[in-house]
Amino acid sequence: MTKKKFWDRTEDPNWEAIDSFIAEHFLEADPALEAALAASDAAGLPPIQVDPLQGKLLTMLAAALGARNILEVGTLGGYSTIWLARGLTGGGRVITLDMNPEYAEIARKNFATAGLADRIEVRVAPALDTLAALDAEGAGPFDLVFIDADKPNTPHYFDWAVKLAREGSLIVVDNVVREGAILAAQSDSAHVKGLRDFYARVAADPRVSATAFQTVGSKGHDGLAIVRVTQAP
Ligand code: DHB
Ligand code: MG
Repeated sequence: MTKKKFWDRTEDPNWEAIDSFIAEHFLEADPALEAALAASDAAGLPPIQVDPLQGKLLTMLAAALGARNILEVGTLGGYSTIWLARGLTGGGRVITLDMNPEYAEIARKNFATAGLADRIEVRVAPALDTLAALDAEGAGPFDLVFIDADKPNTPHYFDWAVKLAREGSLIVVDNVVREGAILAAQSDSAHVKGLRDFYARVAADPRVSATAFQTVGSKGHDGLAIVRVTQAP
């Protein structure tokens, strides 16, 4: 007799219902984050922020690292920034970059509502310019970097993240699967090319060790990469 598996697999997994189930168990009501989402929505920002379970992963990674210096590339309405800032240790800070001044304005209000305005700095400019400025200022090393901005520049943001890291830093990169679009080697989409170039750079870089996993749920089928800097740059 074959042993029955301890789970009954559903033929039609309902990713969103499963996300909701997990969220009901592991997440609490969160007025500050709900207010941030409502304000972003009211301002017409695209609803492309990380989902709450992934946001909580950002808090947990920051806390586990004892992070005092966090960098985010791509602020949008500051939803993921709030999750990151909640994981800060001691008097730490988050610097978050976005070139869109309207997004930055909404994000700053959301940080104030969340009581985090004193721990988060938004810099408004093309991120590649700000990254060079941060390097020149000696603003690093960053313990944790979250890259979630324009996808064609992901490999460049990754290069900067490594440069601004220390041994043991983590670099988290959103949207590394895009419903499998990353398999399209011949794609002429700048988004897909950027993400594929990111994979190639990570694979070729002896200073880092990486994993990535596919995600499903309220944001569809996508993925997150987590890269650990194993050698001080
Ligand atoms: C898009 C960007 C994101 O960062 C994301 O998580 C989902 C979608 C986009 O540009 O479409
Ligand atoms: Mg994203």
